[in-house]
Amino acid sequence: MTGKSLKPYKNPDRGEPGVKLLYIQTIGCQMNVYDSDCIRHILEPSGYAITSCPDDADLVILNTCAVREKAEQKAFSFLGRLADLKRRRPEVILGVGGCVAQQQGHAILGRMPYIDFVFGTRAIGRLPQILDRISRTGARVVDVEMTAPGTPGEPSSPLAGGGNVSRFVTIMQGCDNYCSYCVVPYVRGREVSRHPDRILDEIRGLVASGVREVTLLGQNVNSYGAKEGLCSFAQLLTRINDIDGLSRIRFTTSHPKDFSTDLMSAFGTLDKLCNHIHLPAQSGSNAVLKRMNRRYSREDYLDRIAHLRRIRPDIAITTDIIVGFPGETVEDFEETLDLIKSVEYDSLFAFMYSDRPCAPARRYPGKVPEAEKRDRLAQVLDLQKRATIRHNHALVGTIQTVLAEGLSKRNGISESFQWTGRTTTNKIVNFSFPEAGEDTPQPCIGKLVSIRIEKALSHSLMGRLIRSDRGQPV
Ligand code: 5AD
Ligand code: SF4
Repeated sequence: MTGKSLKPYKNPDRGEPGVKLLYIQTIGCQMNVYDSDCIRHILEPSGYAITSCPDDADLVILNTCAVREKAEQKAFSFLGRLADLKRRRPEVILGVGGCVAQQQGHAILGRMPYIDFVFGTRAIGRLPQILDRISRTGARVVDVEMTAPGTPGEPSSPLAGGGNVSRFVTIMQGCDNYCSYCVVPYVRGREVSRHPDRILDEIRGLVASGVREVTLLGQNVNSYGAKEGLCSFAQLLTRINDIDGLSRIRFTTSHPKDFSTDLMSAFGTLDKLCNHIHLPAQSGSNAVLKRMNRRYSREDYLDRIAHLRRIRPDIAITTDIIVGFPGETVEDFEETLDLIKSVEYDSLFAFMYSDRPCAPARRYPGKVPEAEKRDRLAQVLDLQKRATIRHNHALVGTIQTVLAEGLSKRNGISESFQWTGRTTTNKIVNFSFPEAGEDTPQPCIGKLVSIRIEKALSHSLMGRLIRSDRGQPV
């Protein structure tokens, strides 16, 4: 989960006529980060420029996440702080978007008289009209319509700019899977895939602006295009792989039940497809998987991983785990620990189950006490920490290809510039140039560079750039 404001893309100047300042706070997954980018893009023609300080803003937007209770609490605590901002500066316009907004709509305006508007997950395209209505009439607006046009997946032009090397691209919205613990199908709606031509246009636009890596986003990318009769996800990947100037393709999230042999074969043929898959297992117990409505068994899951590893033996695998799902016994939980041990994940995200509105599991019997959930979470994290460290240590002494993304913060160990990037297996590498005392950054952003890994930490690797005989970075 993230809680971040968008980086300002230019130095907004209040003195410039017509420039208004927009502050966006984003909570939640990459999908929300992408949506926040769409919000920025859609409001640019109305004269809004991003600011990193809510106190300066003319418009403050909170993009919320409802997937777990904690994320929702975070949203309400930020909204509480906005009350004070409105008291000090009554002219500021305050809006709430995202999954909590979709779910609670009018209730948010009822509970918080200082909020000016609420917009749902499929109302981003209509933001200019919403703001126009507010400025003309002073009305408070709720737009949580899910079927009207104006979805964030269809920006009017590519989301270029920003200078980032790596960007998210939403290829589909919504979810039809109805896992029993999950709120997403209720707040993001039914699955809708974007047309491949639009996705390709957007990626070409991003590449032209300097982007070298895209992460394709969807709740279940494996079912891309199926409903609409577009191409398959593997075919979409093949077309994206052909885009000149693009170096790497990532995607998330895959549902194990739809992880097709077609897609596995793509890992054998597409050179830009990164050596990493995020395959959420959620649980290692068949009884729990059944109640979660995941529609695969532990055995199916392990078979798919074995198949994939035959195609790419060194692929990095990560997962999501929920502990303390209603009715999860100690034996069920041990099966999850056992699954984690047998897969040897590179890393994982683990969550304590929380009841979500609409999701059927909130009515399931056998709720696990909070203290027990905390204990199970700690066991999962401890088990994984040791595996992650083992994976990272195994890379010390090897040479890894890293996509350089930018300067990292000075690490306090070395006085020279530290660069940061990721391996194809999605591991963060901070690296320096070979010459001691060098203090000017070299132009390597956006390049694939060879790094000798010198040290493994628990969440990252450290290394040194290798130079060719001619002194060029390789
Ligand atoms: N409680 C805890 N974790 C949840 N997730 C989704 N819904 C819940 C819930 N109600 C987790 C799943 C999913 C990830 C994005 O969030 O592991 O893969
Ligand atoms: Fe939620 Fe399941 Fe859909 Fe993922 S696949 S978004 S967990 S319903």
